[in-house]
Amino acid sequence: MKLVLATQNPNKVKEIQAALPAEWSVTTARDAGITEELPETGTTLDANAREKAAYLQTKLGGFALSDDSGLEVDALEGAPGVYSARFGGPEKDDAVNRAALLHAMEGVTNRTARFRTVIAWATPTGMTTFEGEVEGIILESERGEGGFGYDALFVPEDGDGRTFAEMALEEKKAMSHRGRALRAWMAALDGEIIPR
Ligand code: IMP
Repeated sequence: MKLVLATQNPNKVKEIQAALPAEWSVTTARDAGITEELPETGTTLDANAREKAAYLQTKLGGFALSDDSGLEVDALEGAPGVYSARFGGPEKDDAVNRAALLHAMEGVTNRTARFRTVIAWATPTGMTTFEGEVEGIILESERGEGGFGYDALFVPEDGDGRTFAEMALEEKKAMSHRGRALRAWMAALDGEIIPR
């Protein structure tokens, strides 16, 4: 069975292929011949995840999986949220985004935030979504060299005080929004709660 992913990230592809039974072959949108940017016109993570998965499933048939993630900061009324990738500008630069977040939070004492992922699973018979969240706080300066995006500013509430950028990949995955959403999808697939 063929599963196409709305990502070009080779690590995500490997991770998902490794977690699935051997009958699944996992490919990316580009490797499946989709050269255009996938549509992302929604104003919510849910809408964007659904839009990307539906686009691929309609074009290619079979099964499609997409994910959309963002950082929601309470003091910023949920921003940057769905606009996390381009909070600092259209160039979608992680370091610029982190600087923009620190600037937006100068003098702010409520530093609570969460990362959220929505996964959309599109099949020939319909669409299902899965969510994962991790609560935490935003630091006043960066810590750690690993990860990407806002990792160096985010300390998860259930951790030991380290940022996501100070953790090994496996450690982050065990508590991250994306890890949780992926595990929810895999559990549903396993139990055949969702169409396959
Ligand atoms: P995407 O939907 O996974 O591409 O995520 C959109 C944006 O949210 C990224 O460009 C990052 O800025 C931010 N983001 C999502 N997940 C993470 C994460 O695990 N760590 C840090 N930043 C993240």
